Amino acid sequence: MAGPGRFISFEGIDGSGKSTQARMLADRLRRMRQTVVLTREPGGSTGAEEIRRLVLEGDPDRWSAETEILLFTAARRDHLEKTIRPALATGAVVITDRFADSTRIYQGITRGDLRASVDALHDLMIGVDPDLTLLIDIDPGVGLSRAVARAGSELRFEDMGVDVQRQMRAGFLNLAAKTARIQVIDGAGSADVVAELVWTRVQAHLGQAS
Ligand code: ADP
Ligand code: TYD
Repeated sequence: MAGPGRFISFEGIDGSGKSTQARMLADRLRRMRQTVVLTREPGGSTGAEEIRRLVLEGDPDRWSAETEILLFTAARRDHLEKTIRPALATGAVVITDRFADSTRIYQGITRGDLRASVDALHDLMIGVDPDLTLLIDIDPGVGLSRAVARAGSELRFEDMGVDVQRQMRAGFLNLAAKTARIQVIDGAGSADVVAELVWTRVQAHLGQAS
């Protein structure tokens, strides 16, 4: 843990409903008078948002796989220094839409087996993981159609197609099976149904009544 607060992340493939669920959880906790900082990666601080534009916009082929790992990790370091650690120090609940598991899966497996580099850089520069990670699991076909329906200028990763998303899903599930902090949530239902599944896990984690 990086402070007295609680650190929760949402993970999953593109279009799985992470942002929706992160927002719904933040709203619910705020209604219960919790101080919540809702944030996202890549981004979540001024410098990290600048790096986000470098990795998600423009010609994706201008970065090698290794450079991409460095950019995502640089963004995370800034996010941690400027947003996450200060918030946890005040006792807030920090909810982030993606964190290091995304790098472990996206950079770790899509462009070759780079997991060892991802892990080494994480240990050197980040060194923390959330207390609780909610993996929103969804069929890649459904996720992709949701993501494409919402598409703006950031098509970099959605462009990878359904087969790569399938590989990501398997990677996330495999990681979850080996990692106690990662709880798998069935993302197929309506946003309200999924939010209840999320809430059950969060309540158990925070140890408080609704
Ligand atoms: P992510 O952050 O994982 O990419 P979003 O939360 O942005 O996913 O959701 C992608 C799209 O799908 C959005 O248009 C959102 O409104 C919609 N959506 C989110 N959750 C659900 C759900 N449970 N059922 C149907 N549509 C959903
Ligand atoms: P995000 O804005 O969460 O997209 P989406 O809402 O479609 O899930 O993330 C943007 C993209 O960045 C997404 O395709 C995953 C990718 N990404 C990585 O490849 N590595 C990382 O470390 C992070 C945080 C994101």
